[in-house]
Amino acid sequence: MKFFVDTAEIDAIAELNDLGMVDGVTTNPSLIKKSGRDIIEVTKEICAMVSGPVSAEVTATDAETMIAEGRKLVEIAENIAVKVPLTWDGLKACKTLSDDGHMVNVTLCFSANQALIAAKAGATFISPFIGRLDDINLDGMELIEDIRTIYDNYGFNTEILAASIRTVNHVLDSARIGADVITAPPAVIKSLANHPLTDKGLATFLDDIKAADIKIL
Ligand code: G3P
Repeated sequence: MKFFVDTAEIDAIAELNDLGMVDGVTTNPSLIKKSGRDIIEVTKEICAMVSGPVSAEVTATDAETMIAEGRKLVEIAENIAVKVPLTWDGLKACKTLSDDGHMVNVTLCFSANQALIAAKAGATFISPFIGRLDDINLDGMELIEDIRTIYDNYGFNTEILAASIRTVNHVLDSARIGADVITAPPAVIKSLANHPLTDKGLATFLDDIKAADIKIL
């Protein structure tokens, strides 16, 4: 399973990238706003650092302007994936940009039928939002499962990019189901390393190191 980092914070991407944890990056208008950076400048920096796909989202809602924005975004670097919302106009933009040979990430997916239609429109990635479904007492993981089944039934190549990941269990469940990619905030990716028994075991080892005055260097 590929790991994308869901942020526009350069330092956080760099830290994970140095550990080989970054297969790609996803951004959206909220994350660009949070970074306080110009979208073109920050996206260019991210693309230079990361070799995998970097999603940059359009701002328009009509297909024609989305296509124009997408064509500008792909000039930033070869690894740009144009992110479009899952609307009828977004699907039109997806089809045109993907026919032009560009990667397209269709975002704000909340149903399996939306995912089906995005695949038919040539999406490279479909981004179902798990956490936001959980927020309204629906089952985000059930959506990932349904999309996996449908894509496998018909051999769609669109990659399932599990998004709006809030917890380590979202990561684990996505991996169990067979999502192709998860995109998660840096803090969630880093917390995958945590386990209380690791902390407890290490504390015991440190006590024994001290008691026995064990030295290596
Ligand atoms: O990848 C989509 C993500 O940024 C949305 O996450 O936590 O705002 O629902 P969240």
